[in-house]
Amino acid sequence: MPSQFPKGFMWGASTAAHQVEGNNVHSDFWLMENLEGSAFRERSGDAVDHFRRYREDIALMAQLGLNSYRFSIEWARLEPEEGVYDDAAIEHYRNVLKACHENKITPIVTLHHFTSPVWLIRLGGWESAGTPARFARYCAKVMSELGELIPYACTINEANISIGIAKIIKQHQSQGAAQVGINTDMLARMETYNRELSTAFGVPPQEVHSFLGPRSEKGLEIIFRAHVEARTAIRNAAPNTKIGITMSLYDIQSLPGGEENAAEALNEEFLQFKSYMEDDDFFGLQNYTRTVYGPDGFVPIPEEAEKTQMGNEFYPQGLEAVIRCVSKHLDKPIFITENGVATDDDERRVAYIDCALRGIHACITDGIPVKGYMHWSLLDNFEWQLGFSKRFGLIAVDRTTQERLPKPSASHYGKIAATNALAE
Ligand code: BGC
Repeated sequence: MPSQFPKGFMWGASTAAHQVEGNNVHSDFWLMENLEGSAFRERSGDAVDHFRRYREDIALMAQLGLNSYRFSIEWARLEPEEGVYDDAAIEHYRNVLKACHENKITPIVTLHHFTSPVWLIRLGGWESAGTPARFARYCAKVMSELGELIPYACTINEANISIGIAKIIKQHQSQGAAQVGINTDMLARMETYNRELSTAFGVPPQEVHSFLGPRSEKGLEIIFRAHVEARTAIRNAAPNTKIGITMSLYDIQSLPGGEENAAEALNEEFLQFKSYMEDDDFFGLQNYTRTVYGPDGFVPIPEEAEKTQMGNEFYPQGLEAVIRCVSKHLDKPIFITENGVATDDDERRVAYIDCALRGIHACITDGIPVKGYMHWSLLDNFEWQLGFSKRFGLIAVDRTTQERLPKPSASHYGKIAATNALAE
């Protein structure tokens, strides 16, 4: 018997502006990528030209059978200078939203997905007490212009990511690069990140606070306050829009004797932020793999485990455990706003999707309100410091021609979406 999903389940895919659009020239990441001796493997450049090809991409999603699309609006495009809004950028996103609706695709809009305008970083970025108000002002502008077209808004993507980053740096320091793999590479590059930006910005290295990086206690609070202030601003401007935040959550497991460490990790990565989310309309859950704790702390991935291109353990069954965990602590609808795998073996992507969806189905059967699944990612794209080499997409892109090449996993997932059911 196929596993039937509830009527109205949202089947979609996710992207983020900087990773797909191309030429995000007023953002902090663009600045960093284009520094001489940049820590980035390559530049985002034209990325996959989604800025110009969004119509084709949205139509392709609909053709595949998907009914929703999570993408981000780029703050640096909308407000390239503080307080100066770019009407053409607003019109661009209006057209993207209209294209979604015309194709019967429900948009889920993220207002901040890692990148920030250069001017914000000059003013102290994500450690500045003024940032929540600046972010809320931008959100109010977006929603007063476009709110009627936006049924769901995520304020901040992976608001807790700095905690994971700090942990990976710690693991890197205690274990050496070889065991931690590519993520370490990414984070080692991040260590030079602030130094490089410092020269470009003309502020001391310790005062360059882009979003992706370790955060002080105060900085974390600033991020969550930005969420709360943005929520109020969005509600005022667009009362019909449902609002949530997204968080990066590992499936936290423990070996015998590691229970306390695991409980501490859950508190640090998730529970401590509960009060900021209580007034939200939904929760955006993002999961890629698990972490295991023993009596001495983090347990490295076993040698023999299957790993993804990111150096993570291939572990799609983690999604179900994370959903169950979140639902114990938060009584609200859950959207899976990201979940996916970086691999060149598309059959493993199919297996990953099927396993993740079986987990979601089991949760729904038990009464947990999971409302949608946004696979990461729609397209192979710019994986931040790691450039274009990590392939998460349902659709490949030939970057010499920007031709879209749907993979078998895209039709596989599209068929599930179109029938609203997962085969045995
Ligand atoms: C981020 C995406 C990223 C993905 C895969 C998430 O942490 O939101 O921007 O591409 O993970 O690494």
